[in-house]
Amino acid sequence: MCGIVGYVGSQSALDVVVAGLKRLEYRGYDSAGIAVLADGGMAAAKKAGKLANLEKELVERPLPAGSTGIGHTRWATHGGPTDLNAHPHLDNAGRVAVVHNGIIENFAELRAELAERGHALSSETDTEVVAHLLAEEFSACADLAESMRLVCRRLEGAFTLVAAHADEPDVVVGARRNSPLVVGVGEGEAFLASDVAAFIAHTRSAIELGQDQVVELRRDGVHVTGFDGSPAETRSYHVDWDVSAAEKGGYDYFMLKEIAEQPKAVADTLLGRIDASGSLTLDEVRIAPGALREVDKVVVVACGTAFHAGLIAKYAIEHWTRIPCEVELASEFRYRDPILDARTLVIAISQSGETMDTLMALRHAREQGAKVLAVCNTNGSTIPRESDAVLYTHAGPEVAVASTKAFLTQLVACYLVALYLGQVRGTKWGDEIRAVVRDLSRISEEVEQVLETMEPVRELARSLASKNTVLFLGRHVGYPVALEGALKLKELAYMHAEGFAAGELKHGPIALIEEDLPVVVVVPSPKGRSVLHDKIVSNIQEIRARGARTIVIAEEGDETVVPYADHLIRIPATPVLLQPLVATVPLQVFACELATARGNEVDQPRNLAKSVTVE
Ligand code: F6R
Repeated sequence: MCGIVGYVGSQSALDVVVAGLKRLEYRGYDSAGIAVLADGGMAAAKKAGKLANLEKELVERPLPAGSTGIGHTRWATHGGPTDLNAHPHLDNAGRVAVVHNGIIENFAELRAELAERGHALSSETDTEVVAHLLAEEFSACADLAESMRLVCRRLEGAFTLVAAHADEPDVVVGARRNSPLVVGVGEGEAFLASDVAAFIAHTRSAIELGQDQVVELRRDGVHVTGFDGSPAETRSYHVDWDVSAAEKGGYDYFMLKEIAEQPKAVADTLLGRIDASGSLTLDEVRIAPGALREVDKVVVVACGTAFHAGLIAKYAIEHWTRIPCEVELASEFRYRDPILDARTLVIAISQSGETMDTLMALRHAREQGAKVLAVCNTNGSTIPRESDAVLYTHAGPEVAVASTKAFLTQLVACYLVALYLGQVRGTKWGDEIRAVVRDLSRISEEVEQVLETMEPVRELARSLASKNTVLFLGRHVGYPVALEGALKLKELAYMHAEGFAAGELKHGPIALIEEDLPVVVVVPSPKGRSVLHDKIVSNIQEIRARGARTIVIAEEGDETVVPYADHLIRIPATPVLLQPLVATVPLQVFACELATARGNEVDQPRNLAKSVTVE
């Protein structure tokens, strides 16, 4: 949440920072602002609303040219999305500017102190106190990095801060605690950003910042210390995707591009996981096989779409390993005092690797002695760094707020973890594992087939644009798919959408069914568990008898559903447990098209932001 950019170099800071903010706008789009050091002073502009408003302002009232600058795109926490509350925030003399992501929990106390010392604060934000505190410290030590260290030691909460001071025109300073910040190192220039996407057009050399570290950026290099001034160890890495991965590439929306990228994302996530002898090798899973053999319970923690991936993972983990598996919303997990010990394996699933609820859940798990394995899409992010082990999904950057390709790759990664546990514990034979991996390796092509047949789904979505409610039903792994279909529709089309386990219908939700209500039903394969299949066919008949308009997702060759489907969406036949990898795709397309038909912003739905770095 909130996107931050900092730049020191010889290019126009305005151009570099605004271009960086454009790539980070998915993180928040309530307001945007920029500050540039020029002519011995600080020049700033900020505007409520999307970045386009700020760009317009910059055309109407240009800032002076400078080659050091900072910028921000906001997802509001403290104070509404107004011009005044937009970042950067400046001190009273207008010499220091600061941008912030996160929440400063003791800001009220600090604000009262500053007011007593005669500071006039004008916004409702928690951030403004930092500008004033930095100005005070700087007036004593004339060193921005040292001022930042002193201020950070006084702050409580989660924050990334980036600041510049007019008296140090070639310096930008950043600090991070529990909130993302990466450094980009170029030739004679350096960058700071919430995400590498902001500077990938300039450099692919990045440095991970650790917790409680302050970085000083100069043209000729970067210097990192702890909040206490001690030298800090950092890890440099090469970003293995290029600028085209963070661009729309001819699609109208990132979401459409990301849906289309799913076959490749799935294939990439499977790449290199089988060794020459045919065994599964998950090199990044650095938990010793002995410790994995000891595991007597698996707990998956995640939020939103990643939570739905976890719900599906449970079926595979329990079926293939016979270890009991619980799936918890990360935001609820630590508050109910869960029972965890050294034999519990916690799997934390997160696309961004920065979701605060998930981070807090994994910290709690580790404090209780559990081992944590992260399933994550973002190299070097906080969740994998703080876990005992990580399995990276290789979806590439996901920019649209609604998660699509990350979800499919999370499923693939979870299936691999389940199989690996089965391999290590001997509950699955090598040939059984290889058979599942073979099935998995066919999925990429099957997703491609689904994508090629989506025109009727788009047409159907457009025809439902004026509806108020859509329900989703599923059984077994189809139930979390129904939940995911409903979540996509809520967040993109702003419609009332709910997912139910089809068997629960008669226990209440069936009362919602009325004439012409669209109900999407995810039908399990008739092969695997025919009981399951037959039950859902009865459920379709029950709702149809009460007037529902049935939209049935069923595999090729399943003819039993034909008489009861008002609309039939075909998916390739897959083994039962893997069906979510193909069944989810039409639901993503459906939600995207319905949102477009309703005139909504597909990539940036209202009130949302990607990467939820506050609890
Ligand atoms: C929905 C969506 C969210 C995220 C959730 C977790 O489309 O994208 O529900 O899945 O906020 O985010 P990560 O995976 O980054 O932890």
